[in-house]
Amino acid sequence: MVLRNSRLTTKTSKLFDSFNASINFDQELAEDDILGSIAHCKMLVKCQLISASDGQKIVKGLKQIQKEFHQGKLNFTEQLEDVHMNIEDQLLKKIGAVAGKLHTARSRNDQVALDTRLYLRRQLVTTVQNLLGLTDTLANLAKSVGDQMIPGYTHLQRAQPVLLSHYLLAYAWKFSRDIERLLSSWDRLNRCPLGAGALAGSGLAIDRNYTAKLLNFSAPTANSMDSVSDRDHLLEYLSNAAISFTHLSGLSEEFILWASQEFAFVDLPDEFCQTSSMMPQKKNPDLLELIRGKSGRINGNLINLLTILKGLSQTYFKDLQEDKEPLFDSVKTWNQSLILISELLKKTKFNTAKISHEVYADYSNATDLADYLTSKGVSFREAHQIVGQLVQVAIKQKKYLLQIALSDYQKFCPSFTQDLYAYIDPRNIINRRRVAGSTGPLSVKVQLKDLTMQLKIQKKQLAKYSKLINTKL
Ligand code: ARG
Repeated sequence: MVLRNSRLTTKTSKLFDSFNASINFDQELAEDDILGSIAHCKMLVKCQLISASDGQKIVKGLKQIQKEFHQGKLNFTEQLEDVHMNIEDQLLKKIGAVAGKLHTARSRNDQVALDTRLYLRRQLVTTVQNLLGLTDTLANLAKSVGDQMIPGYTHLQRAQPVLLSHYLLAYAWKFSRDIERLLSSWDRLNRCPLGAGALAGSGLAIDRNYTAKLLNFSAPTANSMDSVSDRDHLLEYLSNAAISFTHLSGLSEEFILWASQEFAFVDLPDEFCQTSSMMPQKKNPDLLELIRGKSGRINGNLINLLTILKGLSQTYFKDLQEDKEPLFDSVKTWNQSLILISELLKKTKFNTAKISHEVYADYSNATDLADYLTSKGVSFREAHQIVGQLVQVAIKQKKYLLQIALSDYQKFCPSFTQDLYAYIDPRNIINRRRVAGSTGPLSVKVQLKDLTMQLKIQKKQLAKYSKLINTKL
């Protein structure tokens, strides 16, 4: 291709070639680039900017390239910089000089803006699918563990007993919000920048609505300068990934702790663990550690792009080529992590005997003991004081609150009677929690129903978007 020979006199420096080229990574956009070009070509024909027969030749050539790409037969070269120039060059080789008409009323600036939007639409659908998969896994687990109780923690100190289902659903809700965030970014993403040209639009009578419609976008973008400089949708995806990794890394940490000998609440599937090269007894939770660790690159990718974009005046700069690697990396890492952790969870075994034992082996019924006193008319602050002292006594006696004699209780407050023991049994503590959103079985049942309903709505919305990305031209 002869792009350089007019304005520039020499070839690019060999040193500069690979620094300048993006083909090694932006070939990820090949499919989208070809699709965008087919739509653009059809529009040029419709607007009589190129003839129907030239248009046919171009589309035929592009479809051939598409096929070769799918077969892994396309050869890319660094000399041609990026995926756009490489594909145009392939077209030139296939159909000759008529290939040169494809770039009428188009710049690589609106072309790359279009490609990343098409790419991101596909990836958004995939990521939502994977998030739905994980949320379903958590909801199914919550159903399967029935009314199993487990210690609940704050500050990683035993706090109050909860249902294991409630614990698991806490994560399901977090991931369902991740889904919500991605879905609600769709409308901003689903606008077509093609026709913005280099920055100022086109003086040729193109039809931007037509290309937008062909590619199932809701409309063309509103401002040509904004269209070629805007990377907000990438930032949104990257920040959604970063938020989701606060959930994924927290969930990983939870199961890493639970798999330790200290907790021994779960047995992780061997297929997602590793052993040590030196210590033969080791079963290490490598997958979960890796997901926790990959939060580093996910946060880094967001900061990376924010830093690239900060302070850029209008409109396109080559800086913007740097937007792709962080994006591709987050897309890959996020999707892989979601699939893997969901598989791990499906095969994780809960050590219910140990968990049930632990629910009775602590002082986490103390709050309800204080509530018991308030139900007898003692002020909560006074009750808090009394129970705090009782816990000290119990620790000295090497007993838990259920094991202390009623006479000891009554030394601290005459309002204590025999019914306190039933009141502070963890099972009753949990069953009493009927307030919306709390851990009692009735509330959890409602919660599961609400979550299932929400997931159903999200699945419907996703099905709509999946149809839109299935563009055949
Ligand atoms: N490879 C470039 C990128 O990703 C394509 C746009 C090039 N535009 C230009 N004016 N040099 O940003």
